[in-house]
Order: sequence, then structure tokens, then C-alpha cells
Amino acid sequence: MRLPIMTFWLAAAVAVSGCSRETPQTGDSAPEGSAAPVAAVVEHDPFSYAEPGKVRIDDLALELAMDFDAHTLSGSATYTLDWRDGEARQLVLDTRDLDIDKVTGERGDGKWQDLEFDLAAADSRLGSKLTIQAPDRNPRIRVSYTTSPGASGLQWLTPAMTQGGKQPFMFSQSQQIHARSWVPLQDTPQVRFTYTAHVTSPDDVMVLMSADNDPDASRDGDYRFEMPQAIPSYLLAIAAGDLVFEPISERSGVWAEPDMVKKAVAEFADTEKMIQVTEKLYGPYRWGRYDLLILPPSFPYGGMENPRLTFITPTAIVGDKSLVSLIAHELAHSWSGNLVTFATPKDQWLNEGITSYVENRIVEELYGKDFATMEAAIAQNDLRASLADMDPQAQALAIRPEVEVDADSTYTAVAYDKGAWFLMFLEQRFGREAFDAFLRQYFDDFAFQSVTTSTFADYAGEHLLGKHPGKVTEAELEQWLYEPGIPDSAPVSASTQFDRVDTLRQAWLDGEGLPAKDATDAWTTQEWLHFLDSMPPTLEQAQLAELDAAYGFTGTANGEIAMRWYPLAVRSGYTRANGEIAEFLEKIGRRKLIMPTYAELVKTPEGLALAEQVLEKARAGYHPITTASVERVIAVAKGEAGAPVAE
Ligand code: BES
Ligand code: ZN
Repeated sequence: MRLPIMTFWLAAAVAVSGCSRETPQTGDSAPEGSAAPVAAVVEHDPFSYAEPGKVRIDDLALELAMDFDAHTLSGSATYTLDWRDGEARQLVLDTRDLDIDKVTGERGDGKWQDLEFDLAAADSRLGSKLTIQAPDRNPRIRVSYTTSPGASGLQWLTPAMTQGGKQPFMFSQSQQIHARSWVPLQDTPQVRFTYTAHVTSPDDVMVLMSADNDPDASRDGDYRFEMPQAIPSYLLAIAAGDLVFEPISERSGVWAEPDMVKKAVAEFADTEKMIQVTEKLYGPYRWGRYDLLILPPSFPYGGMENPRLTFITPTAIVGDKSLVSLIAHELAHSWSGNLVTFATPKDQWLNEGITSYVENRIVEELYGKDFATMEAAIAQNDLRASLADMDPQAQALAIRPEVEVDADSTYTAVAYDKGAWFLMFLEQRFGREAFDAFLRQYFDDFAFQSVTTSTFADYAGEHLLGKHPGKVTEAELEQWLYEPGIPDSAPVSASTQFDRVDTLRQAWLDGEGLPAKDATDAWTTQEWLHFLDSMPPTLEQAQLAELDAAYGFTGTANGEIAMRWYPLAVRSGYTRANGEIAEFLEKIGRRKLIMPTYAELVKTPEGLALAEQVLEKARAGYHPITTASVERVIAVAKGEAGAPVAE
């Protein structure tokens, strides 16, 4: 017998990790009059020690001093608490590598008293559990602390590692579970809080946060921030450096180092149009300003959707706007992720899959169907390739509660590309009009709440399957959510541009010579990516040399091309590219771009030696998350560690 979707999921959740029914949190900005469905059955978050059923942080007030010599933040975090369980007398927080100085609690008479606390030994995955005794259930509690110079969620760069070379730089990357390395917190997306911050820094350094940054703020080393909308901890962000601002529109602009800012504004000039297109599809942008911050090349991701201030890799600035779907993606998170948030990182697809779908819709509106189809086809091919050597358990959108995953590796093609494909399937079956209305309503109904896959499945069951019977069966929905592989019902994105590229590539492989120059001259970056994506696993030296002579792949400034060309070169033993490979791996810290090349290098003794040599040179400039990924791949290759973890 087939169980109904929700029962099926909950049965598994209860059996393995237990679950508790929580009152859904309606944020301040939940739309008036919309009866938000009470569906938030929150599963235990395996990545946090927090006990949100007992007590929740409603507001966080940070008081931090930034020390660029010591590479630390020090000061205090003050929490305004909502004690939910009448029996609760403890506040349990997540921390990692923090030096806890003292803990105080505000009493009824307004005086602050010392509170007892216990900092447990560190767990390598979760960090150290901080248990604070609060017999009086203090309405406010304050923790005084200092971060460690090696904090996993922060990177400190010397002036020499920046573009301008004059001032130091620092930035945070809190997702997945690194906020706890710079603020003691309930580090789970089941808790949302508003925040304020007072940050001091050297005078000439500009400090920004995922809050109300003022484009006209004077640089004086003393900064105040306010974030009036409740956010989950992974969206807490800070950055500091020689940063200047240039507007794109009234509500949008770029923060970057002076040398970079004009280039970035030109590359991302369509940002305001993107906001408008998304608003038309899914309702108003609710966060005030939408600014971009351009990070140094060591930033470990392409982008991070920190509210009001998306963090962006400089590798997306290639001069021809060809990689701007990254902005569409991060902007889309203002609806899917920041507004409606996964309840635990295991439900990553709810953030990343829905966002990747919305990203493609934005791209289609702005750059046309052909372009959007090429991007969707690249993602679908990438997913097919990733599934080929992926554990079937990891291939389901909803990772079952009993399956253990590494927090930083929930970042897979399944969450992104299978997630987006699932929504394309729903759109195709229900029609664009009905599906757009559904998604818009979903964002409104669950605004400022955390949701699980079962919430989504129930909601879709009622508002799509129930409302438009006969279009999608429950079995089809279940297959997409809970089964491995790509369902037969997946609508494949077929690109005529890519068909042409396939024909030309095949002709060359068959010995008929390279495509005519006027054909390739008109190719977009996406066509080049597809040209490389569907090459055989290895090529002859002469073939690689011929491609290089014609197209200059070795040494390319386009990281998306490099991340495809270098692994092919390594697999084919094309050692002529080693110098450029080393340079690329040393300079770029974005994991998605460099890990495929490392993964190929470590497969041979010579390659492994090169990888180790590169890591030693790059280490000082790498972000802790990137260093950890590279070290893991090297250790696994040397037989020094357990199973490899997907990037
Ligand atoms: N939120 C993610 C980055 C992330 C995911 C950090 C999981 C830590 C854990 C961000 O929105 C993202 O998806 N970035 C992509 C952008 C790409 C898909 C356009 C990236 O970094 O490559
Ligand atoms: Zn994303």
C-alpha cells in the first residue's frame, strides 16, 4: 500500500530522530490577512544543539571590535529570549572555537547577574555545545567572547592579498553551519531573529553587514547596523575592507574595492531589471535595498544570498555579462530561502532547487528562452554526470532522516538541478499560469517561516494536485521527492544551439577539422561550456594542442571554462598546462571552480604531488572552507581519510 506523502515522511522522521510540533513563527512582515497555513512540523535539526522548542532567540544585539592584527572579533552578543516551555531553565547555544569569557543575565530589576555555563568539548562536526543555566529564565542573556584566528566562518586577508594592496580585508561565510564560529547562536534555520550591531574597526576600513548598509556612511571605524526583519543564523554576515559604493539604481548598487567597482557595475547593470522581473512573478521584494558586495577571489562560493547584501565572487566578472545568472540566483533567494527557509540543511533543495528554478525564469525573461534553455540543459547534463557516481541515498531531493550528511556537502547537483527540474516538471504539467500562482502563494503563505519537504509536499498536494486533478499523480510526486535518479517524467531541455555545437564537436572528433571561425565567433560562454562538457573523457595530446592553439583554453580568464578544461587536460596527461593549472588553483578559492581539477590531479602520483605543492603555496590565501575541502581530497587519495565528501 502506498502511504500518503506526509504520513510516509513523518513516519520515517518519528522513527529515527523524533519530531515535535512547533507553532510556526510568523515574522513581523508576514502579509496581513493571509491565513498562513499551520503546517510547520519541525524536525530535529541534526546540525544544531539548540532546543528551539524550549526557548528561542528573538533578537540579537552584537557589540564587536575587529582586530586585524590578532584576526579576531571580540565583544558580546546579547539575546532577547522567548521562553516557550514553562519548564525550561537552560539556554543551549552552538559555538565553534570560541573563547567564552563570561555569561550574564538580566534580572527583573534591570541588574545583570553572572550565570553559570558549561562549554562542552568540541565535536568535529558540530563544534562545542554551550549550556547556560538560567534558573530565573532571564529575558535577556549576554555572552562575552572572542573568536579564534582560524574561525571556520571568517577569512582574514592581509593588504597584500587584496586587489588594492593597501588595506586588510575580512569577510564571513556563515552558511552552512559556520555562524557559530563567530557568534554563539542557536545555529539552526528553525530560529529567526532580528539583529542590531555596533562594530568598531580601524578608521579607514569600511564595515558592512547583512543589514541596513548606508551607501553614504562615512568611514570612521565606528559602525551601527540594524536588521529589522527576522533572519535565520546562516544569513548573518559581515565584511570589511577598502570598500566603495557605486549605484546601479535607486535601491541597488555595488560595494567593491575601488579598482573593481566600475567593472562590476557594468557587468551587473541588469540587477534592477532582475528585481523588477522577479517582483512581477512572485510579489514585492521585501528587504529594502539589494546591494552586491564583490569579494576577493578567495571567496569560497560563487555567491551568497546575505539579505540586502549579496556576496559575489569576482570570477563572475568576465566582461560580457555571460555569467550574470549568478545574480539572478542570489536575488531569487530573497524569496526562496531568505523569505521561506528550509527547516534544516537536509532540506537544502527547498532553498537551492526552488531558487535555481526561479533563477532560470528570471534569465528567460531578461535574455530569452534560448539562453534559459542552454543554461537548463547545462544543469541537466551536469546532474546526469553527477548521479553516475553518487550513492543512491544521496540522489533523492528529500534526504531521509536516517541518512547522515556533511553540512558543507549538501551542496550538490541534486539539491540544485534536480530540485529545479522538479519545478519545471510541475510547471509543464500544470501550466505556467497555474504554477506561477501556486509558487507566489507559497512564498506569501510561508513568508518568514521555516519549512520542511513534507510541508512543501502537503502544500503542493492541496494547492496543485488537489486543485487541478488529473495532471500529476501522487506517485509521481513521491518519486521526485523520495526516489533516486531522474524520473522518466522529467521534461528534457533541448537546445538547438547545443545541437549545433554537438554536430561541430563530433565532426572535429571524426577528423573533419575544427568548426569554422565565424561559427565559433558567435558562440556564447554557454556554448563553449557545452562544447567542453560533452568531450570524451580524454583526448590525444595533439587534439588538446589544436584546441589550445585555436581557442586558448589554457590560461583562460573564464573560470567556468577553466573548471572544464583543466580536468580534461589532467586526465589526458597534458602536462603542458601544469603551470597555468597551478596558477589558477592558487589564485581562485571558489570551490566549485577548483575542486574538479584537484579531484583529477590526486588520481596519479605526479598529479598528487602537484596538488600538494599548490596547496602549500595557496594555503595562506585560501579560505578555511576551501582548505578543508582540498585537504580532504588529498587525504582520501593518500588513504588517510574515510570516504570522500561531495563538494
Ligand atoms: N546559498 C548558496 C551557497 C551555499 C550553499 C553556501 C550551501 C553554503 C552551503 C548560494 O546561493 C549558491 O547557491 N551559490 C552558487 C551559485 C550558483 C548556483 C549560481 C555557487 O556558489 O556556486
Ligand atoms: Zn543558492
